Amino acid sequence: MRTEHKVFYSDSRKMSKVKDGTVDLVITSPPYPMVQMWDGAFSSMSDMVKETLAAEEGKAAFTAMHDVLDRVWSEVDRTLRPGGTVCINVGDAARKIGNSFELYPNHSRIIQTFQYMGYKNLPMIIWRKTTNKPNKFMGSGMLPPNAYVTLEHEFILIFRKPGTRSYSEPRGKSAYFWEERNAWFSDVWSDIRGTFQSLEKGTRQRSGAYPTEIPYRLINMYSVMGDTILDPFLGTGTTTLAAIASGRNSVGFEFDKGMKEVIDDRMSKAKTYSRKIVWSRKKAHKKFVEAREEDGKKLKYHSPTEGQKVMTKQEMNMDLPIVDLVEATKTGYEAHYEIEKTKWTLETRR
Ligand SMILES: C[S@@+](CC[C@H](N)C(=O)[O-])C[C@H]1O[C@@H](n2cnc3c(N)ncnc32)[C@H](O)[C@@H]1O
Repeated sequence: MRTEHKVFYSDSRKMSKVKDGTVDLVITSPPYPMVQMWDGAFSSMSDMVKETLAAEEGKAAFTAMHDVLDRVWSEVDRTLRPGGTVCINVGDAARKIGNSFELYPNHSRIIQTFQYMGYKNLPMIIWRKTTNKPNKFMGSGMLPPNAYVTLEHEFILIFRKPGTRSYSEPRGKSAYFWEERNAWFSDVWSDIRGTFQSLEKGTRQRSGAYPTEIPYRLINMYSVMGDTILDPFLGTGTTTLAAIASGRNSVGFEFDKGMKEVIDDRMSKAKTYSRKIVWSRKKAHKKFVEAREEDGKKLKYHSPTEGQKVMTKQEMNMDLPIVDLVEATKTGYEAHYEIEKTKWTLETRR
């Protein structure tokens, strides 16, 4: 098996290198409107953003920033196949502009766009990030009524394009474990910490990156092996890494050319990362099986491909892809996987 990962260092408001209806799943995290670290990026794409920020007109700046994102969402719509899925990780922004402190609800503004484009809005996930910083509170301290609730969560918005999709291969190979289904399809994720965002390479100090576990889960939840995943705001290449680890193809756009060095560096470690994530899933499943059996609850089925007992028939043919080699190509990267199921089990890893 082989997967292809294209990376274009260009503006995703025009993704002409991607043909209509060729993407199966979009996973992305845009620059968040009204979060200060992205003011420069939005201003470089829109004079209206620059002018409204300079005039301290918060609501107008918010609208102008989303007008920029809307152009990318329209390209996302063109490239996505009917029945395809879009997952967008975004946080709201709370900010003081001039004398006015207020919340800028990015998530609801993006929902409006997708509803307008005719997409079905599916139940969303709240990603609850843990923070213990004592200085996280804003406003008037212990004096009512002017203290503000802190933002400690982000959203993962999920939309489906109308239409039905077909599959070239049986979906069983891409199944996930029963106990993963129970955790992943819960609407609050509180087990994933934010990621370290300082950048040693590249042109900026902070990455704005999400933890790889976010796109990895979403890819496994909403696509099958061999599908193509698009990220129009690729940043440090986290979605590419997750696609490699999941045996899916990918296309990414990033307009900051300085990120190439960062992405190349991450892809040079992709084999190790992807093996680690697959190994940790197998290990967690083994623990789950042992705990159940200790409780006297036998698992009825066996997966010959995974060499483990499983809860349901649907898991019997699942086959977690094991990366053998990731190499650079003219347009990005290519990943090769172990062809034969080897004895790469928990026991031989020890
Ligand atoms: C929130 S970051 C994405 C971080 C990414 N998920 C990661 O894990 O590294 C948004 C990225 O989109 C890029 N960007 C913003 N506008 C863009 C555009 N119109 N076209 C391409 N890239 C863009 C920014 O340079 C930034 O790297």
